[in-house]
Amino acid sequence: MDRKEFLTLIGMSTGRIVLASCLGACNQQSVTPAPSPLTVDFTLNLNDAANAPLKNKGGFIYNQGVIVAQTTSGIYIAVASTCTHQGQSVNFQSSNNGFICYAHGSTFSSTGAVTNGPATYPLQQMKTTLTGTMLRVQS
Ligand code: FES
Repeated sequence: MDRKEFLTLIGMSTGRIVLASCLGACNQQSVTPAPSPLTVDFTLNLNDAANAPLKNKGGFIYNQGVIVAQTTSGIYIAVASTCTHQGQSVNFQSSNNGFICYAHGSTFSSTGAVTNGPATYPLQQMKTTLTGTMLRVQS
């Protein structure tokens, strides 16, 4: 093997290693796993001090991995509170009755659908049932 053949062989091997590393890393960055479904079933007493924000339109609380909010039209909504992009907590945004993650700007509708990325998966929507002052939240 002469010098030129040796350098060509080394160059190709190095290129393959770099390419394989890049492809592996790129795949890890671009593929976000789908979030695991949350299983919840809890009831909030709206008269409890901890739940007081829910008495006001636009108010919201967090409980058991869920964000529960009262929309500006007085409807109770609830979704999983963990952003599907990189796991930060979402906030309720009363101006559009949706949810926002301030980490990278993802927004979600009142049902948890993605309205702006980088998140690609929706927030899991929960069922809410109001009976008197008791608000039941179920997955
Ligand atoms: S973690 Fe929510 S947008 Fe990135």
